[in-house]
Amino acid sequence: MKAMIYTEYGSPDVLQFKEVPAPTPKDNEVLVQVHAASVNQGDWYLLRGEPFLVRPESGLLKPKHPILGADVAGRVTAVGRDVKRFQPGDEVFGDLSANGRGGFAEYVAAPETAWAPKPAGVPFEKAAAVPTAAVTALQALRDKGQIQPGQTVLINGASGGVGTFAVQIARAFGAEVTAVCSTSKVDMVRALGADRVIDYTQEDFAQNGQRYDLIFDTVGNRSVAEYRQALHPKGAFVTCAFLPALIFLGPWLAMTGGQRMANMLARPNNQDLAFLNELLEAGKVVPVIDRCYPLSEVAEALRYLGKGQARGKVVITL
Ligand SMILES: NC(=O)c1ccc[n+]([C@@H]2O[C@H](COP(=O)([O-])OP(=O)(O)OC[C@H]3O[C@@H](n4cnc5c(N)ncnc54)[C@H](OP(=O)(O)O)[C@@H]3O)[C@@H](O)[C@H]2O)c1
Repeated sequence: MKAMIYTEYGSPDVLQFKEVPAPTPKDNEVLVQVHAASVNQGDWYLLRGEPFLVRPESGLLKPKHPILGADVAGRVTAVGRDVKRFQPGDEVFGDLSANGRGGFAEYVAAPETAWAPKPAGVPFEKAAAVPTAAVTALQALRDKGQIQPGQTVLINGASGGVGTFAVQIARAFGAEVTAVCSTSKVDMVRALGADRVIDYTQEDFAQNGQRYDLIFDTVGNRSVAEYRQALHPKGAFVTCAFLPALIFLGPWLAMTGGQRMANMLARPNNQDLAFLNELLEAGKVVPVIDRCYPLSEVAEALRYLGKGQARGKVVITL
């Protein structure tokens, strides 16, 4: 099969488009012909081997897994003997980040538990945009943030992969959403259902006197004190962008009964994909695709994502 592989950490120049053996599914695995795979910041970090804390998982000196690509949508072509939920021909999608990735290839094998049925009526390229970004937004808002109908919610970084899902999921939970993004993306974010959009080049959400019940941050560009200023005294703040200060400050604030503030790490699971399926099939959540690239141009896709200004998701189509 054709695959985009890398054998050393570095810039997108280290990627090589090669012919490699197709995987054979183990007893608990499903072999999928990849129709689309989306690109995530996680692929960018693993390509570069930076920040260094990715290396215990990905390989200390060189990458353990030569094929990147966690988010995949495709069709089942074979199943291992213990697989119960899928059969050849099924359309599936999944997040393979806990299973060595491998999505930037014509075929990938991963355990049955990594896959969920693809939402009906949603094309492969849109389904591939969902797993990492939408599950991150869902777990941040619902599980860590305990979002409630009628709450005021601020999404900082509303125009990227995670943010475009977060705006729609928060609206689906009945929240009143304020979204923060740059000028050229204001109209797009408003069209996703945001009640109010703050163009951060014109207005500072931390200084305008507004306070929110819940803040979901995907950027991590402000200090903890600034985020707290925009949060109700009993509000919750969740970031997927990792703020080191919260390792100690978060538990301390929780103990003193004030604002709840925490980093979150998404945990891929097929129950959350099934939950999202309902929102996708009902049209309450629509993946936003910025650009599609062919498999041979994964390097360009990663270069584009690495600039940190994507408008929704970047997708590889096969
Ligand atoms: N913890 C986890 O489990 C987890 C899971 C997934 C992702 N992440 C992390 O979450 C972050 C976002 O991921 P992503 O996939 O959404 O990235 P992305 O698609 O690259 O989006 C990044 C967005 O940040 C926005 N941005 C840049 N500067 C901004 C500012 N000053 N104010 C507001 N927005 C700003 C950009 O929009 P503008 O052009 O409008 O500025 C861009 O759309 C990354 O750091 C990623 O590693 C963590």
